[in-house]
Amino acid sequence: MDRHYQNEIDRRRTFGIISHPDAGKTTLTEKILLFGGAIQQAGSVKAKKAARHATSDWMAIEKERGISVTSSVMKFNYRDFEINLLDTPGHEDFSEDTYRVLTAVDSALMVIDSAKGVEPQTEKLMAVCRMRNTPIVTFINKLDREGMSPLDILHDSEDKLQSECTPLSWPIGMGKRFKGVYNRFGSQLHLFEAGRQTRGGDGIIINDLSDPVLDDLLGSQADQLREEIELLEVAANPFELDHFLNGGQTPVFFGSAINNFGVREMLDAFVELAPHPGDRAALTRDVSPYEAPFSGFAFKIQANMNPAHRDRIAFVRICSGKFTRGMKVMHHRIGKEVTLANATIFMANDRENVDVAYPGDIIGIHNHGTIKIGDTFSEKEPLKFTGIPNFAPEHFMRVHLKNPIKAKQLQKGLIQLAEEGAVQVFRPVRSNGYILGAVGMLQFDVTMARLKAEYGVDAVYEPVGFTVARWVDCENAKKLDEFERKHPNNMAVDAEECLTFLTTSEWQLGYAKENWPDIRFHKTREIN
Ligand code: G4P
Repeated sequence: MDRHYQNEIDRRRTFGIISHPDAGKTTLTEKILLFGGAIQQAGSVKAKKAARHATSDWMAIEKERGISVTSSVMKFNYRDFEINLLDTPGHEDFSEDTYRVLTAVDSALMVIDSAKGVEPQTEKLMAVCRMRNTPIVTFINKLDREGMSPLDILHDSEDKLQSECTPLSWPIGMGKRFKGVYNRFGSQLHLFEAGRQTRGGDGIIINDLSDPVLDDLLGSQADQLREEIELLEVAANPFELDHFLNGGQTPVFFGSAINNFGVREMLDAFVELAPHPGDRAALTRDVSPYEAPFSGFAFKIQANMNPAHRDRIAFVRICSGKFTRGMKVMHHRIGKEVTLANATIFMANDRENVDVAYPGDIIGIHNHGTIKIGDTFSEKEPLKFTGIPNFAPEHFMRVHLKNPIKAKQLQKGLIQLAEEGAVQVFRPVRSNGYILGAVGMLQFDVTMARLKAEYGVDAVYEPVGFTVARWVDCENAKKLDEFERKHPNNMAVDAEECLTFLTTSEWQLGYAKENWPDIRFHKTREIN
């Protein structure tokens, strides 16, 4: 194999940052981009978010609520590493997009607010990472404020996330007494200099904990630190690379993103520990990134900024082979050869046309609705990458058209929005109309806004009694028919014509499961 090609893969790190809203994800992203030289000034990421708002009509909703509905990709270099950082929307009311972005990463960085510990959103995201055993590095943020004790945070995380924690850095005090972090990974101490916290290189570095300078600088906190570190050597879980790589253990770092403290320590360890692109499971076999033929899959579709042209960007994660501009690949779902002439790579501060890209990279392919989430592209071999699921929605709404003349447009709009993954669409088997399903309530507002802006359809939604959905199948077709007949008001088909059982409660679902042991109820469905 070409050395250069192998090296390009080995130095790539493709990861997503996950957190509960307000834990500090945007701030941390910004500091990481500053280290990578991808932006020059703090504030750029937030400013960019604001600028994006102005460019699209349907994103007005985003602006209204002051949150980011879409997620993006940022590419930059750090040391010898080539980083692809995938942003996931952090609002409370998140969508399936967030989940899907996580199917395209090789690792994740989880941000936790030290005062709040593990919050519900983080638990959900963690559950998604666990589905693929994604390795996770944890950053405990806001140590410059009074929060839970570091040990309590570790216990809380182990408890709620069911993952072993191993502290690779350790804070010296917190709140007003926060003096810096001891880097257990690099056996180095980085002290804060009050008032000079804004750049990563600032501060005092001490290489030996027994150095008496430490007592001069920290007073009584010096001995406390020595004791705590000694205790950790004995009591903390030792770091085990394999355990981390298969998702069983998370290395933990402490710091303060806004003060840029502990961020560099975390990032340095992250790039070294986090995996380069690995094998990806396809239906027929596992595909290695080192294989020469190109392959990749679409994990996210974003309506472009110009809704009038129905222009969309499909985000494709490269799984193997080198991408070169103008190359021909098979689009397997539609059985056509396509030329990838107009691919975009997402730089942190701009978009650029891309000439070459490697496994781990994300390229954006412009299209007019031909690409769907889950589509695989490869040079020859018909591959189908797996693990890009539809998630069972948790909220359901019935759509009402204000002007019935627009029924055709409504249908077209809903089908396209479902293909894009903006919302799930169900058609009840026994009645007319559409039921929308979503993982986050916000998806409904986005869908209505987009129906109006892009399809000229004035629609509203109203609650429908369902709260649970499961895709159903059965080896015995007769049994499935019987099940369908016995539950006429609960059956629907999704946009891919897959049979779905909608119920009003978990209890009702449990009841059905008990009475119909042959029927299989699925919480996720692989996208066809
Ligand atoms: P998010 O993307 O996870 O939602 O969080 P974001 O970075 O926007 O941070 C949420 C709030 O927490 C912001 O304050 C931010 O300044 C603050 N923050 C981030 N890191 C730290 C930290 O290390 N220490 C402290 N004390 N605060 C931190 P805000 O007032 O909501 O916004 P802003 O006015 O600063 O923009």
